[in-house]
Amino acid sequence: MNIRQGEQKLSAPSGKTQPIPPVLRATLVTGASGALGGALARQSAVSGEALLLWGRDALRLAAVADDCRAAGALVQVRQLDLADTDAMLAALAADDGAWPIASALLVAGQGDAVPPGQDLEPPEQVARLANVNLGAPAALATALAGRMAARGQGRILLVGSAAGFHALPHAPAYAASKAGLARFAEALRLAVAPKGVQVTLVSPGFIDWAGGGRPIPRPLLIPLDVVARRILAAFAGGAGHAIIPRRFALLRLLDRLLPGPLRAAVLRRLNA
Ligand SMILES: NC(=O)c1ccc[n+]([C@@H]2O[C@H](COP(=O)([O-])OP(=O)(O)OC[C@H]3O[C@@H](n4cnc5c(N)ncnc54)[C@H](OP(=O)(O)O)[C@@H]3O)[C@@H](O)[C@H]2O)c1
Repeated sequence: MNIRQGEQKLSAPSGKTQPIPPVLRATLVTGASGALGGALARQSAVSGEALLLWGRDALRLAAVADDCRAAGALVQVRQLDLADTDAMLAALAADDGAWPIASALLVAGQGDAVPPGQDLEPPEQVARLANVNLGAPAALATALAGRMAARGQGRILLVGSAAGFHALPHAPAYAASKAGLARFAEALRLAVAPKGVQVTLVSPGFIDWAGGGRPIPRPLLIPLDVVARRILAAFAGGAGHAIIPRRFALLRLLDRLLPGPLRAAVLRRLNA
């Protein structure tokens, strides 16, 4: 499969290229080439329904698309760098114009932290995470929410992180981008709920998958398939905010209740 930036390819289960019927409503998944996005796409693949899979890595995107087609879904893949805001919004307009997006799973994100042996992140990394983890999903969700509100219905899922609950000295940009996304999700939810648009934020803890991050202690590790299933259940149930696993909600409460100096001491220990 030859896929370039912004290019589309539709295939029926047979693998033959076939246009998606114009009236069919679709589910968009960003980060579909990644671990969590791939798992969510595979679990969302339903016979006869359309999936719009966005990512950057052509091979991993194609592998996920093949599995979804095998489950009977009609699939379009789009290779796109979400750091390119104009291209992202143009792609959304094209896809949503062709197949109205009923549900959007905005999963794409980057989990970079302070590099080993360094005290701080490179400033370019800070700017990149702010864009990819907050600016891009917020802009995309806003554009989607406007389109869905005009249709009087739609559902948007934003993937945050339990890291957003804490001022992590080993990952300031990641923690801040996810904290910002959480505040954005709440505000957007309030803004568009009266228009029939659902906004769900999920804040997973540590997800267990082969490439899963740098070697740090990862308490309450949760298997990829399990977290994907719970995310889709929370989304289907109309949750506003789901923390997975729930025990991270206790850590968030503790973070809020601890006196400042004690909280700072705990967070510094995490960094060490
Ligand atoms: N892993 C965890 O323990 C964990 C915990 C809490 C929350 N999360 C969140 O879950 C989401 C998915 O993470 P993951 O663990 O599945 O990581 P992953 O396997 O690295 O997947 C990240 C996905 O985001 C895409 N992406 C990154 N930057 C992009 C860009 N500039 N433009 C377009 N796509 C971009 C990647 O595309 P390509 O691969 O094609 O480049 C990939 O599909 C992220 O938002 C992450 O913050 C993860």
